[in-house]
Formats: sequence, C-alpha cells, structure tokens
Amino acid sequence: MNIYKKIILPILDKLDSESLHNLVLDLFHLAEFSSATLWLLKQFAYKRKRFTDRRLRVILGGVEFDNPLIVGAGWDKFGRAVKSLWQLGFAGVEVGTVVANPQPGNPKPRQFVLSSGVILNWLGFNSPGMEAVARNLERYRGSGIPIGISVGKNRDVEAKDAPLAYATVVRRLYDFASYFAINVSSPNTPGLRGLQDKKPLGEILHMVNKTMDEAGGRKPVFVKISPDLSFGAVEDVIEVAIDNGLTGIIATNTTENPYIKAKYGDRWRNVQGGLSGDDEDFRRMATEKIAYIYRRAGSLLKIIGVGGIKDAETALEKIKAGASALQVVTAIRSEGLTVAGKINSGILEYMEREGIDSIEEIVGVDSGKYGQKEHYVL
Ligand SMILES: Cc1cc2nc3c(=O)[nH]c(=O)nc-3n(C[C@H](O)[C@H](O)[C@H](O)COP(=O)(O)O)c2cc1C
Repeated sequence: MNIYKKIILPILDKLDSESLHNLVLDLFHLAEFSSATLWLLKQFAYKRKRFTDRRLRVILGGVEFDNPLIVGAGWDKFGRAVKSLWQLGFAGVEVGTVVANPQPGNPKPRQFVLSSGVILNWLGFNSPGMEAVARNLERYRGSGIPIGISVGKNRDVEAKDAPLAYATVVRRLYDFASYFAINVSSPNTPGLRGLQDKKPLGEILHMVNKTMDEAGGRKPVFVKISPDLSFGAVEDVIEVAIDNGLTGIIATNTTENPYIKAKYGDRWRNVQGGLSGDDEDFRRMATEKIAYIYRRAGSLLKIIGVGGIKDAETALEKIKAGASALQVVTAIRSEGLTVAGKINSGILEYMEREGIDSIEEIVGVDSGKYGQKEHYVL
C-alpha cells in the first residue's frame, strides 16, 4: 500500500495548499544546512538514493542533465532548495519565475486543491525580486547542478517595456543560469500571454539575445508557452523562436480552459487561475502541443515537456510525443518525494525491456499519433 497517497496526502489536501508548500520549501532549505541533513533528506528519496544511470542522460543546448527530469518553474520561485531537489533525484531546477523588483503577487488564498493531484493557482508572480534570488543562488555556485532561470516581468510593467524588463533579469542572473526560460504564458499577470504574439515576443527575444552577447555570450534560451494557444499561434512562436536562434520551447504552462476547470465543480469554471497536474484533458493538451512542435521543428528546436507528468507512463508519453527533457511540478506534492526516482527507474525499466540505449532514440516516435483538432481552444 502506498502510505503517502492513502494516508498522508488526504490530510495534506485539507491544509492550505500554499502554506504547506512554503513549509516544505523551508524544510528543504534547512536540509541544505549540512551534508548530514542532506543525507537525512535522501532517506525519503526512492530507494533512499539518488537514482541515476548513464542511459538517462540528456543534453539540451550543450547543457548536460544526468536524467530528463527538471523541477518546473513555480516550485522553487526563490532559489532556496536546489540542492535538496537534486538530492531527491531531479537533474536540475528551473528557478522562478523571477521578476526584477520584489512583488507580493495576488491576494491570498491563491492556490487550491481541486482534486487530489490537480491544482489551481493564481499566484501572480510572487517574487522576492532578482537581487534576493541572486543572493540565494550564490550558494550553488560550483555545485554543478543545472539551474534554469524562469524570467518574467513585474505586473506594473507595460507591454511596450517588457523587452527591457526581461533583459534586466537576464543580465542580473546571467552568471547563475545554465539556461533561461522566457515565461510569457502565466495566466496570472494581466496581459502577459499577449507577449506570445509574434511582434512582442520577437522584441523580447532580440533584447535578451543582445543582453547575453554583452554579458559574455549566448546561453540556451527556451520560450514557455500556454496550452491554450491555437496551433496557428504555436506556429508563430516556432517561427520567432527559430528566427532568434532559441534552443527550444517549454510546453506547457497551466491551462485557463473553463471546461476543464468546471470538471471539478461549476464554481471553478470562471475562477481566475491556471490548472495543473493530474487532469487527463490538460495532460493531453500539453502533449498535443509538444507533438505539433516536434512535427514542425523537431530538428531545429528542443522541447521540454511539462503538464500532468506523474509517473513513468506519463513521462514516456511526453518523450515519445517529442520532448527531450521533462518538467514536473504538481506531482511533487501528489506523488511525494519519491516521484523523481520512481519516474527515472520506470523509464529505465522500459528502455531495458525495449532494448533502447538512450532517451534520444525515442524522442518524437509517437508525434504523428496526435491530431491537430482545436477542440481545446477557448
Ligand atoms: C503553484 C504553481 C506555481 C507555478 N508558478 C509558475 C511560475 O512562476 N512560472 C512558470 O513558468 N510556471 C509556473 N507554474 C506552471 C508549472 O511550471 C507547469 O508548467 C504546470 O504546472 C504544468 O505542470 P504540472 O502539471 O507538472 O504541474 C506553476 C504551477 C503551479 C502549480
């Protein structure tokens, strides 16, 4: 019997979701105090070890990850728990989203458990700001753990000033980043998703590239998209990403789809916020976007797949649709601290069974299976 899911999770689900998250984050932060406390944390990992194997290694834009699982943006917005998350089996952490100046985010409560494993959040980029994140990340210098920086803009920055806002964070956190994720897809900052359009996105990426050139050279850059985009709009993002020499696309952020929200009760239908986690339709939307990007640009862009991954099966689904690496957020809570080890060992078991020697061999093999119907478009 899975004690965590049967006994502990139902209790946790009754607590305030954001407070619980912050408590776990604090504990992870404390665990980094010494090698003894990190060892203690490792006792909660799958089989009490950091599961890895050379066959799980993936390389994205020249950055090596020892397995395909990265902690997605939103779990460690402040950059305080990177080593702990790595210890539990993740290959890296995407810190953020980080904005230039500190901001509190939207009023609380702003994170809800709709059903076990499904979360609706309306955080709105609560962030201590880039200076505080830089101070936090100082601790991980030389650790060798890949750190992505998810970059956003403060709520009060107008769309016309967005390129400078993104570039400012990129400049400040340049030294700490293994890669940058340009987040233009969070549903909780008014107008942000409009930045996915060709012109504003092109302007942001141009300025980010220029800033990196001045700072010492290009690092891998990904743009993170919404699952609610039409395929036509995804096509535009692909074009801008290729034109600006990006490494790839992160697909996808949370969904605003009211029909999916309403599955958890009609009162959620028009509530603001993005839904994530173990919802079949949401997972499928994200996977369809991955398959589309792979079919259109698989040789030119790398895809990081995210959205509803909770076990080896859902992870393999994303890889076979076209993702070279994966991110997990909501399932860290709903599956527990063993999630990374379980997924990695499950992927490896599959590879052994099928005689596959590297993840790259199966990236995109099912991309032709997914349709292009706009049945989820709002
Ligand atoms: C509480 C919470 C906060 C999030 N914050 C961010 C964020 O700051 N930036 C971002 O790009 N995505 C954010 N996300 C979206 C996740 O990175 C991810 O794209 C989405 O949750 C789907 O993955 P999942 O089903 O594994 O959670 C957040 C998600 C959750 C649940």
